[in-house]
Amino acid sequence: MKAWICSAYGDPSVLVLEDRPKPVPGDGGVLIRIEATTVSSGDSRVRALRLPRGFGPIGRLALGFRRPRREILGTDLAGIVEAVGKDVTAYRPGDAVIAFPGGAMGCHAEYRVMPADGRIASKPPNLTAEEAVSLLFGGHTALHFFRKAELKPGESLLVIGASGAVGSAMVQLASHMGARVTGVTSAANRDLVRGLGAADVIDYRTDDVTRQSRTWDVIADTVGAYSFGKCHHLLNEHGRYLAIAGDLFDMLPRRRGTRRSIAGPAAELREDVLRISHLAAAGELNPVIDKVFSFSELPQAHAKVDSGRKRGSVVVRIPHSVD
Ligand SMILES: NC(=O)c1ccc[n+]([C@@H]2O[C@H](COP(=O)([O-])OP(=O)(O)OC[C@H]3O[C@@H](n4cnc5c(N)ncnc54)[C@H](OP(=O)(O)O)[C@@H]3O)[C@@H](O)[C@H]2O)c1
Repeated sequence: MKAWICSAYGDPSVLVLEDRPKPVPGDGGVLIRIEATTVSSGDSRVRALRLPRGFGPIGRLALGFRRPRREILGTDLAGIVEAVGKDVTAYRPGDAVIAFPGGAMGCHAEYRVMPADGRIASKPPNLTAEEAVSLLFGGHTALHFFRKAELKPGESLLVIGASGAVGSAMVQLASHMGARVTGVTSAANRDLVRGLGAADVIDYRTDDVTRQSRTWDVIADTVGAYSFGKCHHLLNEHGRYLAIAGDLFDMLPRRRGTRRSIAGPAAELREDVLRISHLAAAGELNPVIDKVFSFSELPQAHAKVDSGRKRGSVVVRIPHSVD
C-alpha cells in the first residue's frame, strides 16, 4: 500500500510517499480501506516537533529522537471494512466505519487495521467519509474536557479558538448541552462561530479577552493564547479553566479560591467515538471543513495546518483508484 512516511522532524517536505506492506488483521482485527483522513494540529506538532513550552526535552523521548517513532502519521480515518479476523462479529466486509487511533496514528495510508473492540464505530449514514472523519479529533477532545469540567446545562462557557477543530466541536456540543457559549475568534470567522451556536463572539484582534467585564463558569483555551494566571479573574465562583493547549507549567493543577484549572492529554476512549457517531447521526455535531486535499497533496495539507489559521478540520481524500 501507499503511505506517507515522516522521514525526519521538519517542514512538510520531510513527508515522503512510499510503499509499505498492506497490514493483515489478527483474529480480533478489522482491515479498513481508508477513504478519508485528516491532518490534525496533532500531526503538524509531531512532524515539526513543535511542542508547547517546557515539553522540549521530553518531546523526543516521547515521540522519537531523530524522527517520529510512528513513521505514518494521521490520527483518524473513515473507510470501508475490507476484511475481518475470525473472532470479529461486530463488523463485516463492506461496512462503512470511522476510527480514531489517536496518538497511535497510522492513518495517512491506504489501509489500517483496528481492533474490533477499539476506537471504531459505524460511519454516520447522513455524512460522507470526508465529513465524518472531520469530527473525530476535535470531538473527542471536546467530550473529554467537558467531562473533566462537569459542564452543566445553563452554565456559561468561553471558547478561545472557537473556529478551530477543537473549538468548533466545543461550541456545538456545549450549545447542544444547553450551555451559553461565547466564542473568541477573528472577524472573518464570526458568522461561522455564531452559526455553530455561540450566542456572542469576541474578536480577539480588536478586543482584549483578558479585559472583559463579564465572567464565565468555564473557559476553554484551545489555542494556548492565555493561561490560568491571566484568566482566573474572568471565572465565576467554582469556575474551571481548561488549558487544552497549555505549556508544561499549565499542566500543573492550579487553584485560586474556588476557581481551578484542568489540563493534560485528552483520554482516547471508544465510548467517545461511539458518541460522536451518534451525535453526528442525530445532526447534533456537524462537520466544519476548511478544505479537502487529495492524497497526493498531503504535504500541502500539512502546510495549511501549520499556518494555525485553519477553520475546523483539514481533510485528505484517499481515492480507491490508488489501490
Ligand atoms: N490536550 C489535548 O489532549 C489536546 C487534544 C487535541 C488538541 N490539543 C491542542 O489544542 C490546540 C487546538 O487544536 P485545533 O486542532 O483545534 O487547532 P486549529 O484548528 O489549528 O486552530 C486554528 C484556529 O485557531 C484560531 N486562533 C488562532 N489564534 C487564536 C487566538 N489567539 N484567539 C482565538 N482564536 C485563535 C484560528 O482562528 P483565526 O484564523 O480567526 O485566528 C483558527 O481557526 C492545539 O494546540 C492542539 O495541539 C490538545
